[in-house]
Amino acid sequence: MPPNREPIDLCAFDELVEGEIVELRAGGVPVAVGRWEGRVYAFNPTCPHKGAPLVCGKLMARLGSGGPGQMDVRSEAPIVSCPWHGWEFALDNGENVADRSEKGLRLQRCDVVGGRVKLGIKLGPAAAGE
Ligand code: FES
Repeated sequence: MPPNREPIDLCAFDELVEGEIVELRAGGVPVAVGRWEGRVYAFNPTCPHKGAPLVCGKLMARLGSGGPGQMDVRSEAPIVSCPWHGWEFALDNGENVADRSEKGLRLQRCDVVGGRVKLGIKLGPAAAGE
């Protein structure tokens, strides 16, 4: 999307179901939109590996580790898992979680304004009411 384009209205925030991904159209172009813990993430709807439809993937919390024997759940930074071969992408920056040398996921600019999900305002995840 060109950087100076007007934001595109996608849907009402309340139409999105927590923890689910839907495929919408923005100016005729498909975009995947997921809602996680009150935030909205928009991204390319096809996996950069072999093109799986990420609308069939899963949103989930990212696991992290502060060191050997330590495991923590980072639900504030969700990932999307591909339904075909399980590649996982961070939705805060699009990186391939398992192998940063592999292709990442292209994120879309997204925000929630007045209860509406808008594409094209800023980079990264958006929260309701911001
Ligand atoms: S198509 Fe997504 S991991 Fe292979």
